[in-house]
This record gives sequence, structure tokens and C-alpha cells, in this order.
Amino acid sequence: MTEDKLLYTGKAKNVYQAQQDDEVLIVYKDQATALNGKKKEILPGKGTLDCQISQLVFNYLIKNGIKTHLVENLSDHKQLVKKTDVFPLEVVLRNITSGSLVRKFQVEEGQRLAEPIIEFYYKSDALDDPFINESQIHALKIADKTELEFIKKMTLKINELLKPFFDQVGFDLVDFKLEYGKYNNEIILVDEFSPDNCRLWNKKDHHSMDKDVFRKHKGDLVETYQAVLQRLQDK
Ligand code: TMP
Repeated sequence: MTEDKLLYTGKAKNVYQAQQDDEVLIVYKDQATALNGKKKEILPGKGTLDCQISQLVFNYLIKNGIKTHLVENLSDHKQLVKKTDVFPLEVVLRNITSGSLVRKFQVEEGQRLAEPIIEFYYKSDALDDPFINESQIHALKIADKTELEFIKKMTLKINELLKPFFDQVGFDLVDFKLEYGKYNNEIILVDEFSPDNCRLWNKKDHHSMDKDVFRKHKGDLVETYQAVLQRLQDK
């Protein structure tokens, strides 16, 4: 497996061309960022923890019928995945009020929502990932109505699978962010699922077990992610 052709370097991962044209290699980095990259730190061990947690979550989703880009987990920090046309959208689902929802609308944090909220953000570092609504997504030809309905349905299904998955190991799944791509005209889940892109609260004491410990200086990120991995592995 060659790693010489770097296709893309992101905040948390590097992407290399794999041997097959339609596959790429994802290598997780030991870098933590917040505030769209304005806060940045190298944290040894973080990349392998993100990758290992994401592998467990993706394996579980695949076992339960969710189509993803994953071809093979190559090591604790490398994955072989299908090359997709990624929708430039961050799809956020919320079960419990927190984060930007609380900041924007001044609602109390920690309120369980009667129905999950789904929000879309347009992926653009230069624009700071602005909020985008469904008619804007259609008008700007980012995704058509059928594609967006499919993405929303798949996001809700993933939520229904992941809530008990995390509940069993003592976490509330507060919210998360997903990304989707198209492969052979089919919409599939891409990117990763780790405490970098979700909020997990300890059911016992409501402590954050996710990137909020880094964003808000509430604890050690690597120790926190290790604890999440340990609980999922012991499951
Ligand atoms: P928010 O409350 O800051 O809008 O975040 C909602 C969820 O989305 C939270 O689990 C963190 C995740 N997220 C990302 O993965 N990447 C991002 O760039 C942002 C803003 C949020």
C-alpha cells in the first residue's frame, strides 16, 4: 500500500490515493482542533483513539444495515475506504440541547428534545461552515429533494441505532455530525464517528466524554477518549 500520493490533508486526517482508483486510504492524525482550526494542539495517541472508536461504531452500523464507505480497517490508525463524491454538508442531529443550539436560542442546556432536530451546515472552512437550509441546498444544487430526504431518513435511522449502542455503556448520545457521499449513484455514510464529532455525556454525572473537554478546557482529551474506547471494547 503506497502512501505517497496525498490527495487531501484535513484537520484530523490525511487522505491518500490507494492502489485501486476508486479507493482511498485515510490516516488519522494526532491533532485536535476547535473553533474551525483556530485552536490547535498535537495530542499523541489521539489519532489512533479516533480511528479505533470510529471503527467500532462503523462496524456496528454496517452490521445493522447502514451502507458506508468502509472497505477495510487496516490498522488502529488507517482505513481503506471507497472514494465518493462527498456532499459538502455537515448533517447535525440533536437529541438533547447543547452547544450552538443553546448559544443561539438561549435555551437551557440538557433538555431532552421530544423529536430529534436535524440541521445542515455548508462545509467551507473559508466561510466557517455556515448554517444552510433545505431550500438553499436545493437551489444551490448541493443535493436534490430525493437525496436530502434520503439523507434525513438515514440520519434518523443511525440515531435510533446509536442511542442504545451508547446507552448500554453508560452514555447519553446528546448530538452528532455526519457526512455523506455518493458511490455508484448510492448515498452512503462517509467520514468518521468519534468523540470529535459527537457529544457523549456520562449518564451518571453528565460529564462530557467528547471533544468538549478540549473545547472548554474541562479535562484531558486523550484520557477521555481512552475511557470511551475502553467502555466500547468491554461491551
Ligand atoms: P454544535 O452544537 O457546535 O453545533 O455541534 C453539534 C454537533 O456537531 C456536536 O456533536 C459537534 C459536531 N460538530 C462537528 O463534528 N464539527 C463541527 O465543525 C461542528 C461545528 C460541530
